[in-house]
Amino acid sequence: MPSLKLLGIFLIPILGLLTQVILPRANLLGVGQGEVTGSNNGKCVSVPELQGCEDAWISPEHGVAYLPCTPLSSRAAWLPAILHLNASALPPSSGDYIAVYDFSTHTHHRLQLVGMPKEAEENLNLHAIDVYQSPSDRERLTVFINSHRPPVDRTTAKEVGANSVVEIFETRMGSKELNWVKTVQHPLMRTPNNLVAMGERSFYFSNDHRRKVHWSRSFQLLYSEPSDLIYCDASTTSPHCIVAAEDVHHPNGIARGPKDLLYSASTGEGKISVWEIQSGDHSLLPLDSIAIPRLSDNLHVDPTSGAILIATFPRVFELVSHFKAGGKTTSPTEVYRITNDTSEGQYYGNKYKIDRVFGDNGQIVSGATTAAPYKNQLLLTGVMSDKVVVCEIDE
Ligand SMILES: *[C@@H]1O[C@H](CO)[C@@H](O)[C@H](O)[C@H]1NC(C)=O
Ligand SMILES: *[C@@H]1O[C@H](CO)[C@@H](O)[C@H](O)[C@H]1NC(C)=O
Repeated sequence: MPSLKLLGIFLIPILGLLTQVILPRANLLGVGQGEVTGSNNGKCVSVPELQGCEDAWISPEHGVAYLPCTPLSSRAAWLPAILHLNASALPPSSGDYIAVYDFSTHTHHRLQLVGMPKEAEENLNLHAIDVYQSPSDRERLTVFINSHRPPVDRTTAKEVGANSVVEIFETRMGSKELNWVKTVQHPLMRTPNNLVAMGERSFYFSNDHRRKVHWSRSFQLLYSEPSDLIYCDASTTSPHCIVAAEDVHHPNGIARGPKDLLYSASTGEGKISVWEIQSGDHSLLPLDSIAIPRLSDNLHVDPTSGAILIATFPRVFELVSHFKAGGKTTSPTEVYRITNDTSEGQYYGNKYKIDRVFGDNGQIVSGATTAAPYKNQLLLTGVMSDKVVVCEIDE
């Protein structure tokens, strides 16, 4: 039966490729899975004025969230993380702002930026936020926000990408002002996506891509070059930054865990990585990897329970259309929660429980990039979303 043998020669590798590579990838991208079913999406309040807010930091003791927001028209032109690089279409002076949202009144206001150089303020293109609360005075806040400045000659943006920086501000809880402290720039700060504040001048950040611009980035749904996590100490005039973890696949959200742990989410793989912060050199030692069924964006840790909440993309092709359309089409959302699995006694650090705690087909919550917990609520914000939505989560 030579023809059958011949068939086998081709069929077996093809079947192998299909089951080992293509089907798992298709599942992760949400291909052929129908409509996303709703879960905990019935008790939601929306805040339509807050648009294009990629991330949020919540103060649990004050019941407020700080959000970096960008007009959707700017996002459509300029979002280096997804190769929106038409810097010529940005307004000459940025319309970005940092808002404070109050969970008890559902009201919000914008913070005034004080002492910021004109160049830094006009080129603000906000992305993520993290805040350091002084241990001796928790009302004293140091705010870290990454900003994707367009290049000085905006017409070169497609070739050179962004001049991304981290802006550091100081303020007090309740103040209407943010006092600018400094801009951090460093060659290792290529494509900063998310931050973890470690001290008044030190932080980790994720570089979502290996390179600012490269032809291969157009094929990133199939493969992207591994990137890295960086630690910076900006206490001196020129910042000192090191590669804290190398070979990380499309790292996106990062968050501080208990003790010396740092968590990172991936938009390239269906997993959350657990890292141990090395106190001496600030490098990150891989400790654990937690499989989740989706590609994810930002993650936040519940300050009371320690649970990890992750905003994920259940239908990646709908997300791509949502981005292309500048937020004018919807993209569904699923939020997963990771807790310690204590069903067989007390385990710590190696056994986890994964629950889908929120689902929406895009009609109520669209394109969420952050799901930050506050009491029994989730604050859902999106880089290209036309509103912020707060939903109550029933257990
Ligand atoms: C960039 O934006 C400008 C101004 O809105 C527009 O005229 C131009 O067509 C855009 N370029 C691309 C490549 O989309
Ligand atoms: C697991 O338990 C430890 C010890 O109580 C806690 O610090 C940590 O935050 C928990 N992790 C998760 C993911 O819930």
